[in-house]
Amino acid sequence: MKIRLLLFLSLSIFSLMSFAQDSIISIIPQPEFIKVNSGKFILNSKTKICVNSKDKGFLEAAEFFKSIVKKGTLMNLQIVENSKIRNEPNTIYLNNNNQSAAMSDEGYVLNVNQKNIEISSITSTGIFYGLQSLRQMLPPEIEGNGNFDESVIWEIPCTQIIDKPRFGWRGMLLDCCRHFMDKDFVLRYLDLLAYYKMNRFHWHLTEDQGWRIEIKKYPKLTEIGAWRKEEDGSTYGGFYTQADIKEVVAYAEKLHITVIPEIEMPGHAVAALAAYPHFSCTQQPITVENNWGVFKDIYCAGNDSTFKFIEDVLTEVISLFPGPYIHIGGDEAPKYRWENCLKCQNRMKVEGLKNEGELQSYFVTRIEKFLSTKNKKLIGWDEILEGGLAPNATVQSWQGVNGAISAVNSGHDAIVSPTSHAYFDYPLKSIDLKKVYKFDPVPDGILKENVHHILGGECNMWTEHAPQEKIDSKMFPRILAMSEVLWSPLEGKDYYAFNKRVQKNYSKLDYLGVKYGFETQPISFDVKFDEVEKAFKVALISGQKGLKMNYTTDGYKPTKSSTNYENTLVINHSCELQASIFQGSQTEAEVFSRQLVLHKGINKKYKLTFHYHQNYSATGDNSLLDGQKGSTDFHDGLWQGFQKNDFEAVIDMGEITKITKISASFLQSMPSWIFFPEDVEYLVSDDGINFKTVAAIKNDALQNLQETKLKEFDSNFENLQTRYIKVKAKKVGVCPDWHEAAGSEAWLFIDEIVID
Ligand code: ACM
Ligand code: ZN
Repeated sequence: MKIRLLLFLSLSIFSLMSFAQDSIISIIPQPEFIKVNSGKFILNSKTKICVNSKDKGFLEAAEFFKSIVKKGTLMNLQIVENSKIRNEPNTIYLNNNNQSAAMSDEGYVLNVNQKNIEISSITSTGIFYGLQSLRQMLPPEIEGNGNFDESVIWEIPCTQIIDKPRFGWRGMLLDCCRHFMDKDFVLRYLDLLAYYKMNRFHWHLTEDQGWRIEIKKYPKLTEIGAWRKEEDGSTYGGFYTQADIKEVVAYAEKLHITVIPEIEMPGHAVAALAAYPHFSCTQQPITVENNWGVFKDIYCAGNDSTFKFIEDVLTEVISLFPGPYIHIGGDEAPKYRWENCLKCQNRMKVEGLKNEGELQSYFVTRIEKFLSTKNKKLIGWDEILEGGLAPNATVQSWQGVNGAISAVNSGHDAIVSPTSHAYFDYPLKSIDLKKVYKFDPVPDGILKENVHHILGGECNMWTEHAPQEKIDSKMFPRILAMSEVLWSPLEGKDYYAFNKRVQKNYSKLDYLGVKYGFETQPISFDVKFDEVEKAFKVALISGQKGLKMNYTTDGYKPTKSSTNYENTLVINHSCELQASIFQGSQTEAEVFSRQLVLHKGINKKYKLTFHYHQNYSATGDNSLLDGQKGSTDFHDGLWQGFQKNDFEAVIDMGEITKITKISASFLQSMPSWIFFPEDVEYLVSDDGINFKTVAAIKNDALQNLQETKLKEFDSNFENLQTRYIKVKAKKVGVCPDWHEAAGSEAWLFIDEIVID
């Protein structure tokens, strides 16, 4: 009893303390230890920065802080180099010493009192992070361009911070291939990463859709490979010159960020092969891809000149990136070409390789050996485990965490960035701020003694659907959660406290010019069908408190002046319900929509002959007759997917019913291996046993459409009365020969069977 009471008391004191601290300072990522004392240090134009170290990095950190202060406050602080000054007032001391926690490479100790400020570390990185924490304790106007109000006081609460990161690898991947990002945009992201103490920039530089790094020995890589012809005939592309790359790498270094280039092989190499087709298996000319997906043409593993080419490329890459790692991709390499290539098959015979998986392992191991002669270490996506992992490779786990578990348990290093928590190209519907915050890079199943092989994690910003101007809204605020996952101790994690700090962070992001997005899916729909009123009852659910939702049902996009949502809507007609949230002066906002179709079949019972795939279950067993029709986004949660079997359902209308129309909708998305059915058949029966065919419809749409399309297979009837309706749809078996995934099981996607 006593123990519990004591515990209760100490917990209350602790929570009071942390509440008080939260209300004064909000650093992201949360430091390992903070104690707020009373009083404040006031930064003014007389404040000196005293560098007590001969390490040039300490001086650079001082200059960095000075430049931030200059930009935000217009004050020009004096830096005193290698001074002997101690304990003078109005001074920020940067000390090189091994005071307690400042012993770790990136750790620091920060003491703010009314008289002066002291930051101690054994490394300039620790000092830099101490200064970033100090920066975050200043008023948000520090991030502006001197556009502050007269009333702003540059005060810092008296504080003691002892801090160091949980993981040494705190990264972000930026795909500059699917969409090209300006050099200045990349530099800006480095600033933002450093602000949150992220220290790895994983630069995705080569892809099917564009080669983005100048290689002097192979000029066609950028002359041809950096440019693609879009569907509308326009040319899209861009690349970084070696001078650009050097500038980015040097800039990153000043921000204590290591840049890791990713040069993809053996797959995701269409742009390179468009430039130099003789390094592919077919050696036939191809063009830079203008579609998203995974493509058949990969580097030929049977051709020694391919390896010579890759080694030449890597030699130039290595000369530009001083960091210890080179990422070689290794993901999503279809083996179709290798299976049909004499040279690749010959290589397998000569090397005694059992299958194409082992050939990929041979490929990666050969590259790893080359890299190690240059003192570089190889990183690859988790597919490099297939067919056997190269001896010193580091695995980046993306298809879940199993790749990390097998790598780490066999003594390899791993970086963890699973699609479940770390893919910031995914919508908030699947990965919101809270979900990112819940991510733990150390998965269950890692041997205790091998935990140190988890280097850390990354958030991955793939850009198929994100041109440069959309990146901020996808990265922010989710990257705040990732920075805390990778830096702060696991024990103190508290989403509520974190979120309070996030709220305080927004004004800083405003000053930094970051166009951040929402914390969670801002609008979702709860649709019910009222049998008595024959109407939909729709609630709009806002994912974030205090947001006003505007909606329309007339087919026009909602505007700032559209009707504001207050209560559950009653909708007794078919329509597209569209809703948006407008913030501040915004005039255009993301639209969330739901297609509602009022028909006789809603909520009628039906039985499926074959079960849908667990990953595409929509809303379950009522999904095809719920009056809500799937959109062209096959991830919208309304489509049911079938991969192994055809589609067949028997609908019971409950009684003999007059039917004038049956219409089932299907989706086709070629890059996602989803095809319209070959044909659709409607049958009817009064007893549910004996059926007769009333319509048979062949697919007349093209299969190789680039666009994602919806198609209604509909049939009208004049004198049809029936109780049972059978819907049959014949699935395309496997992806056809011309398809990039030729031979793989095709998908059938269906939603809403409309019956009138
Ligand atoms: C990946 O997302 N293909 C690594
Ligand atoms: Zn080949």
